[in-house]
Amino acid sequence: MRVLILGGGGREHTLVWKIAQSPLVDQVYAMPGNAGMEDAAQLVPGDPEDCQQVVDAARDLEASLVVVGPEGPLAAGVIDRLQAEGIDAFGPQQGAARIESSKVFAKDLMRKYGIPTADYRVFDDPDAACEHLSKREMPTVVKADGLAAGKGAIVAHDESEAREAVDVLMRERRFGSAGDRVLIEDFLRGDEVSLLAITDGETTVPLIPAQDYKAAYDGDEGPNTGGMGARSPVPFFTEQLAAVVQEEILEATVRALANEGHKFCGVLYAGLMITESGPSVLEFNCRFGDPEAQVILPRMRSDLVELLVAASGADGSLKRAAENLRWREEAAVCVVAASGGYPVQYDKGKRIKGLDRIESDDDLVVFHAGTARQEGNWYTDGGRVLGVCGMGGDISSARGRAYDAMQQIQFDKMHYRTDIGC
Ligand code: AMP
Ligand code: GLY
Repeated sequence: MRVLILGGGGREHTLVWKIAQSPLVDQVYAMPGNAGMEDAAQLVPGDPEDCQQVVDAARDLEASLVVVGPEGPLAAGVIDRLQAEGIDAFGPQQGAARIESSKVFAKDLMRKYGIPTADYRVFDDPDAACEHLSKREMPTVVKADGLAAGKGAIVAHDESEAREAVDVLMRERRFGSAGDRVLIEDFLRGDEVSLLAITDGETTVPLIPAQDYKAAYDGDEGPNTGGMGARSPVPFFTEQLAAVVQEEILEATVRALANEGHKFCGVLYAGLMITESGPSVLEFNCRFGDPEAQVILPRMRSDLVELLVAASGADGSLKRAAENLRWREEAAVCVVAASGGYPVQYDKGKRIKGLDRIESDDDLVVFHAGTARQEGNWYTDGGRVLGVCGMGGDISSARGRAYDAMQQIQFDKMHYRTDIGC
């Protein structure tokens, strides 16, 4: 079969890498993809958020499955359009994707169905939001309702920081209409973990847990980024906890969505805080995590495509396909090399040296997130540039493998955290 993957970052390179290994697949295409994928996929120019372009490309390429990486095309309704044209596609329809594209929708759903999450209030008026802040305990969390590229949640330590967050989101409208409404929610303490599941809207198949390192600098200092690294497994996340999350959060949410008329097919990603009183949902996403995919998929021993096909067919075959799911015992650690200044301001076009010295094998893969290739040389082409994924008998040897490889790579103002996996 021919598979078209939408997106062009590190998560999508990981999807390309894994999907290309499937015995079911003859050809992989990526729209728009990135230069690092060219060994395994043919790049197709186009905008994945433009539904017509995606439909046209899928038809021209005779793709029998379209797999969507990022949330943008899902929120734009690309799955609805593809399915209406009779093209199989993996991901939720626009209505179900609101679990990520509207935090108010997600929180109201959780409240209605008793799914654990921090208590909250919703405001569409900045004065009313600030009035509420003057009566609250700090810290508190202010969140934009809509999509804001991972920058719409602000943890405020005092009232002035919280008011500033309301200003940025609602008055300056830094993220446009995403800030028409804000949530103000209780601050939770604990450890964070991501648990993702593949679902056809009825059967929910949990993947292995992963942990994302969101802050830019070592020790969780600095601004939040798209993710500076990840590890899997997550030592504190026991099988017992995973079972509770599976039943009370993932399955409960899939059921709740179906009950509201939004059957969810695709990846349901629960971002969780493990508090003293149990797991609580920080956010839902409607797709694979980036860089969580970079540690989850290398640990998957069995075929991903079988699961994606079964889930997108929504014909009840996911339960059977899930019986073949196998994981590698080895741990995985992915370290992201970013451009200096990321996530705020950074330059592109820096020559990357050393990539050709790295020999990939079963325990080491370099996923490209933002690179370009010119006359045989590699250049930076984004904020997050590369994700180096190492595997080993335990987290510490996986870390060693990833960091040894990272030391081979250089570019001007390259920055990476040195504590991923710790
Ligand atoms: P979100 O986009 O909702 O996942 O939020 C981004 C990050 O903000 C999370 O990964 C947490 O580190 C932090 N965060 C969000 N909500 C809360 C909360 N209620 N309590 C504490 N930290 C939070
Ligand atoms: N790693 C966080 C995300 O994918 O949203």
